[in-house]
Order: sequence, then C-alpha cells, then structure tokens
Amino acid sequence: MRIFALSDLHTDFRENRRLIQRLAERDYRGDALIVAGDVADRLETVRETLGFLRGLFADVWFVPGNHELWVRNDPRDSVQKFHAVLAACAEVGVRTAPGRAAGHWIVPLFSWYDAAFDVRGEGVQADLEAWSDNYFCRWPPDVGSPSAYFATLNERSLRAYDAPVVTFSHFVPRPELVPPVRYLSFKGLPKVAGSLRIDQQLRAVGSRVHVFGHTHLADDRVIDGVRYVQNWMNPRRSDGPDTPLKLIHDAGAELPSALQPLFC
Ligand SMILES: [Fe+2]
Ligand SMILES: [Fe+2]
Repeated sequence: MRIFALSDLHTDFRENRRLIQRLAERDYRGDALIVAGDVADRLETVRETLGFLRGLFADVWFVPGNHELWVRNDPRDSVQKFHAVLAACAEVGVRTAPGRAAGHWIVPLFSWYDAAFDVRGEGVQADLEAWSDNYFCRWPPDVGSPSAYFATLNERSLRAYDAPVVTFSHFVPRPELVPPVRYLSFKGLPKVAGSLRIDQQLRAVGSRVHVFGHTHLADDRVIDGVRYVQNWMNPRRSDGPDTPLKLIHDAGAELPSALQPLFC
C-alpha cells in the first residue's frame, strides 16, 4: 500500500476537475490518499470530488480548508457548514478521524489560522482588505477564536499511537514554512496562513510526516525531525511528474534504513 498526498484541488474550476478525473487512468485501488483541504466551496462539489476519489482509492482522508467553510448564499454559519462537510464525507466513505493505513496511523488535525502565527510581525494588514474569508465565512458568536475552536476538536485525537504517525492539516503548522513577505505578492499572508497550535498538536502525537496546504507553495523539508510536505494541485505545473499526487510512503519499496525516518 502506498500513501499519497494532495491539497487545494479547487475543483470549482473545470481545469482542476479534469486533472482529478485523469487519476482514473491509473490503479490506486490498494492505496491511501490524504486530501489536505480546499477541495471546493460548494458542498455538492466537495461531496462529488471526494466521492469520486473514494471510488479510486482504498482509503481517503480529508480535513476541510477555508474554502469549504465559505457560506456565500448559504443560511448556515461556517461551523454548521464544517459539520455538514464532515457528514458528507461520512456519506461517501471518506475518513475524517484517525485510522490505520500501510502500517501507519493517519491523524487528521482540524485547524484555522490566527495572527499570532505571524511571529516575524511582517504581515501587511492593509493587504487583508480583499481577503475573501472575511466576507464569505460567518462565525457564530460563541466560537471566539476559530483557531482555538478547531484545535479543541482535535484533543480527542491526541493520544499515544502504536505505529508511525502521519498527521495533516489544511493550514500551515510553522512560520518557517511561509516565505518572507518580500517574496510574496499577497503580503497579508503570514496573518492568515497558519496556527502555532498545529505544530504543538502534531508533535504531541509524535508525527513523522505532516501534510498541509493553503499557501499554494510546494514544500518538502525536515524541521526538528518532522518532514513537512505541501503538494498543492497546481494546474499549470509544467515540470515534474504527470500526476498531481505526491507519494509520501510506499510499503512495498526497499529503502536504505538511513532514509526511513524521513520517508516514514
Ligand atoms: Fe487553496
Ligand atoms: Fe486554503
């Protein structure tokens, strides 16, 4: 069994839907797929895309991103929509709770961003005026900080696991994974990219590999013994493999033992 990772499918766009449909040309029936959020903002599209992927893979795991919690033209608030998305996942057999795959535990971490993540203090507030979440998400008054609310939901998953752990979230777990703003066109990003709570939680469960998304910046590096991977679905990628998926574990592969802690 192999474990693949992908985020930010954004299948509201036809070009992206086509890339996902092409996955049917290959055989993934023995494999697991981690989908790290931002499939679509329409619930019907989320259900359809995840249901399609579930038909191709032995197992699919998912956490909602910010786009799933948009409630344009929707009477629900963003927390109600979050639970509606989890219910849709259950209907199509997509997993949103810890489970086993290929000798590992896959542990989803729900999350949201907060401004404390901008530890360098360089995010430009004025750039957030056009940030869509400010207009398309609606939080119920009792939620307080969405970042704290979703972190609390993960507490039931914070326990000892009896096999190597792969965690995943939509949002960014560490500030080092966001480039300095001088390299960014959207200079408000550090304030809406991630949460320090994610890294605390993934380390609490002893994660070896953490998959994330959201910034649409490919990444794969080891920091303090944990491998962090972002594999967002870039429809305009002109180099690299012809599949949008990234392989993060292959149970059948012969690996030199020195590589195993990183390759998990
Ligand atoms: Fe995205
Ligand atoms: Fe996102």
